[in-house]
Amino acid sequence: MRIPFVAGNWKMNLSVEEAVNFLETIKGQLPDPKVTETCIAASPLFLESMIKHNNGSPLVIAAENCFYEDEGAYTGETSPKALSEMGVTHVIIGHSERRKYFNETDDIINKKVHAAFRNHLTPIICCDETMSRRQSADRISWVVSQVTNALKSVTADQAKNIILAYEPSWAIGSGKTASTDEAEEGCYLIRQTVADLYSDEIANEIRVLYGGSVNDDNADDILAQIDIDGVLAGGASLKADSFLKLANFLQ
Ligand code: G3H
Repeated sequence: MRIPFVAGNWKMNLSVEEAVNFLETIKGQLPDPKVTETCIAASPLFLESMIKHNNGSPLVIAAENCFYEDEGAYTGETSPKALSEMGVTHVIIGHSERRKYFNETDDIINKKVHAAFRNHLTPIICCDETMSRRQSADRISWVVSQVTNALKSVTADQAKNIILAYEPSWAIGSGKTASTDEAEEGCYLIRQTVADLYSDEIANEIRVLYGGSVNDDNADDILAQIDIDGVLAGGASLKADSFLKLANFLQ
């Protein structure tokens, strides 16, 4: 039985004060984590304050990214070791915005996945799909290769703990969410890839999320799909009331 995972990705939005107010507002209104796990991924600038104010709440605090080395002369990068020491437990890796604006390749993403495991962080690995890929003949192999490359040299024991997300960039921030069939197909494809790489058992254990213009109007249909175990919401996670609606859909 997979516990649904409802995550928000704030991207480069809000202020520390707004982040803390958000946490204080949602405290006490989140679902039992045995029913639905909830998570907010935020800027590294906010994480320390968020962890302090999250005390006693089931909300998982995640980073939006990390570097693939633990320390060294890497100006401006975020150390996965420091994140872990700070009390962060999860990290988004390979978001389409990282691939698009920061030239992250599958190889870099794979190194980051290993860095996450090395530092006891659960990676939330995103698979992108652009509209031109979607319309091309190799659209399936494109998603399959992102999963396969991200998980290169990841052991079966490690793979059991990953969270994957189907995040078609044509649906991100566009207000044009994928249809439930399209979202389910993408998540199914990711799960099948994990089954082919590891086993049906592991594929049935891991959570696969959908992300791309999720909001409280479309989330219930998306969450009802068999291979979709949760959502990764951007815009809809910025306001406490809409995040709470997403978080409590499955109560
Ligand atoms: O990580 C979240 C996704 O990029 C979705 O963003 O819900 O604003 O489309 P969005």
